[in-house]
Amino acid sequence: MGINFKVDKEKCVHCGLCIKDCMSEIITFDENKIPVTIEEREKNCIKCQHCLSVCPVGAISVLDKNPEESTEFKHEFNSDEILELIKERRSIRYYKKQNVEPEQLQKLKDMLKYVPTGVNNHQLHFTFVENLDMMEQIRTKVKATLLDLVDNNKIAARMFRRYLVPIKKGKDVIFRGAPHMVIVSTHEKAPCKDIDPIIALSYFELYAKSLGIGTCWCGLAYYCFSMIPHLKNIIKVPKTHKIAYVMLFGYPEFNYKRSTQPEAYGMDTVDELSEDETFGDKIKNFFSKD
Ligand SMILES: Cc1cc2nc3c(=O)[nH]c(=O)nc-3n(C[C@H](O)[C@H](O)[C@H](O)COP(=O)(O)O)c2cc1C
Repeated sequence: MGINFKVDKEKCVHCGLCIKDCMSEIITFDENKIPVTIEEREKNCIKCQHCLSVCPVGAISVLDKNPEESTEFKHEFNSDEILELIKERRSIRYYKKQNVEPEQLQKLKDMLKYVPTGVNNHQLHFTFVENLDMMEQIRTKVKATLLDLVDNNKIAARMFRRYLVPIKKGKDVIFRGAPHMVIVSTHEKAPCKDIDPIIALSYFELYAKSLGIGTCWCGLAYYCFSMIPHLKNIIKVPKTHKIAYVMLFGYPEFNYKRSTQPEAYGMDTVDELSEDETFGDKIKNFFSKD
């Protein structure tokens, strides 16, 4: 199947940006300096649509996409506001018992198609728990299963032992009372299957924050759904996919007033290259150690 690369000859300004920016080197000029594809290279197209996106005059259509239906970029971003958004993001562990407005949920879903994936593979899948009642059913099932496993001293529940007392007292340490969650699963054969889902949830949490919706990365829920027998299959994901992570979300019960003051991470710069140790050096160094 072709990629249906089309150029509006009236609009084309022959700048060659589509040719330069095609990482698969599929496009070239024809004798009239109109971009055309090299047919035998079309199979290398990763469907990134950079040709459509970079064209200064909207002359290019590819994969049947009409450039007029793209969002035209106009504004400069306010970097101070973006930094503030990053600083203000908190892990939310107290939520209003209220479903997120459907329009806002839709906005979050629509955003997800713009997140990058390695080799533009686009094989993530998102499973949403969209209402309080469904979340309650999951919560009840997970709680009962965990208590049973802990009571019967099963290895899979060992990491939950320290939460046993609060769980028994009715504290929702796994789902933090969240009204929703999104479970991202990844195609087992995707080239960047480990990192793609994490990028997607990182975008999700920041965009959610900008909509007034709080989130929490949920390692505990991920562990439940991916490791605990009896819970592994309660969330259905496509057969070809594997659960990669879980994020809770909903309207926060309260807001945070000031930034935290985290310690900086270790950082340095590369200003010289270290010599690569040869195999001989490695052996020598190994035996010279006392
Ligand atoms: C990969 C990952 C997994 C996490 N899992 C949980 C979790 O299971 N339960 C929870 O309450 N918080 C979880 N958190 C939230 C962290 O505890 C939190 O990011 C950290 O305490 C700093 O707080 P802040 O996010 O508000 O800055 C997780 C965070 C990350 C990045």
